[in-house]
Amino acid sequence: MTRSSAAVRLVPLSEAHLEGLADLTDDPAVQRFTRIPVPPPAGFATTWLVTFEQARLDGTRECFAILDSLDSSFLGAAVAPRIDRQAATAELGYVVLPAARGRGVAVDALRQLATWAFAELGMLRLELLISVVNEPSKRVAERSGFTREGILRSYYLKPGLREDTEIWSRLPGDAEPKWEREK
Ligand SMILES: CC(C)(COP(=O)(O)OP(=O)(O)OC[C@H]1O[C@@H](n2cnc3c(N)ncnc32)[C@H](O)[C@@H]1OP(=O)(O)O)[C@@H](O)C(=O)NCCC(=O)NCCS
Repeated sequence: MTRSSAAVRLVPLSEAHLEGLADLTDDPAVQRFTRIPVPPPAGFATTWLVTFEQARLDGTRECFAILDSLDSSFLGAAVAPRIDRQAATAELGYVVLPAARGRGVAVDALRQLATWAFAELGMLRLELLISVVNEPSKRVAERSGFTREGILRSYYLKPGLREDTEIWSRLPGDAEPKWEREK
């Protein structure tokens, strides 16, 4: 089947997604490549939810649950961890449950997240920060219409982790990415 329409939908993160969030925070790859503390403190999924619910009120961050379009099961999270209204610049990110990986969920989610950030927030620049060794995430960026700008050397991600990190961007005038994948 050719992927021609969205297979996932994004909904604002809520209490209904706490179990899925906890599964995400338990995953070693999520711990390795995101700002989630390692090991995650007890109840970290609730902390995550509360942090984003508060930030939603002042418009400085947003987090969506990624749901399967067909059965509404929780597949992951699509995040804007930094929204700078004055600079019209947002950082975006994505995490997908291990069982849902490799079938285009992150690409589909990131494309929708970028569309939302341009259309709803009026952002003029979107950024992704990706470890130089995170090959799947770089592929997601490329397939979602982002351009690799360069490497931030020894970038600080979280306590105990600094590493060379690629910065990717997408601007409103960049070409719209297309689905090409056969599944
Ligand atoms: C990165 C991540 C979100 C990708 O999710 P996903 O839904 O599996 O991604 P997609 O299926 O949309 O696309 C993955 C792409 O990476 C490719 N890929 C997967 N594993 C790969 C690997 N080890 N090396 C190179 N490419 C790889 C896939 O082939 C696919 O490319 P394709 O469309 O050309 O076939 C997921 O692996 C994840 O949650 N990782 C942990 C958290 C993380 O790293 N988040 C990003 C932080 S910057």
